[in-house]
Amino acid sequence: MSSTAEFHDRLLSLGLARVAEQAALASASLIGRGDEKAADQAAVNAMREQLNLLDIAGVVVIGEGERDEAPMLFIGEEVGTGNGPGVDIALDPLEGTTLTAKDMPNALTVIAMGPRGSMLHAPDTYMDKLAIGPGYDPGIVTLDMSPAERVTTLAAAKGCAPGDISVCILERPRHEAMIAEVRSTGASIHLITDGDVAGVMHCAEAEITGIDMYMGSGGAPEGVLAAAALKCMGGQIQGRLLFRNADEKARAAKAGITDLDRVYTRDEMVTQDVIFAATGVTGGSLLPRIKRSPGWVETTTLLMRSKTGSVRRMSYRTPLASHQ
Ligand code: FBP
Repeated sequence: MSSTAEFHDRLLSLGLARVAEQAALASASLIGRGDEKAADQAAVNAMREQLNLLDIAGVVVIGEGERDEAPMLFIGEEVGTGNGPGVDIALDPLEGTTLTAKDMPNALTVIAMGPRGSMLHAPDTYMDKLAIGPGYDPGIVTLDMSPAERVTTLAAAKGCAPGDISVCILERPRHEAMIAEVRSTGASIHLITDGDVAGVMHCAEAEITGIDMYMGSGGAPEGVLAAAALKCMGGQIQGRLLFRNADEKARAAKAGITDLDRVYTRDEMVTQDVIFAATGVTGGSLLPRIKRSPGWVETTTLLMRSKTGSVRRMSYRTPLASHQ
């Protein structure tokens, strides 16, 4: 593939929104049907088809998995027409497959694009994450602090009591001690069952979502996508890869990661300006759900550019027949 042109984020952003929209539309008829795999596959197929229409020489750096595990949108897959800028692509065609299958809030289609080499090639492992919204001193809360210390430090910076802080955490047995410690400070906890990209993004719009901080472990690929979102919206995220076995360490080595204990900041996970698009599937506090009315279907997409800090919410309505 040739990569002759520069990364024109403004020109490419509408194309990226279409990619996210089409993936969401493809999964629409599978919302609430109890079939996670079918919903994911529909989104993957549509996202890949749309990506291949874009004039880019793209490489998937965060995708559906390793080449031998994922037939489509695998890590390293080349996408686009090949006529255009060389770009890195991070994607999750359906972030929240279970949320979609059960029709629970905040399932999204998510994609970020930046110049070649702009995004961390995170292996498919877990990542310990900590995120807050914009307006705080850099590094004010850290992964090395205890959960309680993070709450009290953030409360002091915000000028409120710990009891006025709200923390978003994935509800998992592995987080039980963290949840108990956060509760001991008086802070409230917004538990989510899945979807930590949205969980992190909630911090960037604290005045709307009421969520000040995200903490806990989840997918490393989702960590990079969340970092791309915060690079556009403002806010901080730190992530440290977590490894459960030798195979996961080998995946990191394959991705070129040598320091296994490194803490990555937002701008170390996403080193250059990127564009980011997410379309609401089941909807939630970030984005409304896909609306189906007789003959029509409507989506809402969040489209953001880190270079300008612009955040658009775009609605798209199309006749239903073309999607059946
Ligand atoms: P899927 O969309 O692949 O189901 O992932 C959803 C998710 O909740 C992510 O948002 C999160 O990072 C990860 O799964 C958490 O993993 P686990 O369910 O193993 O705790």
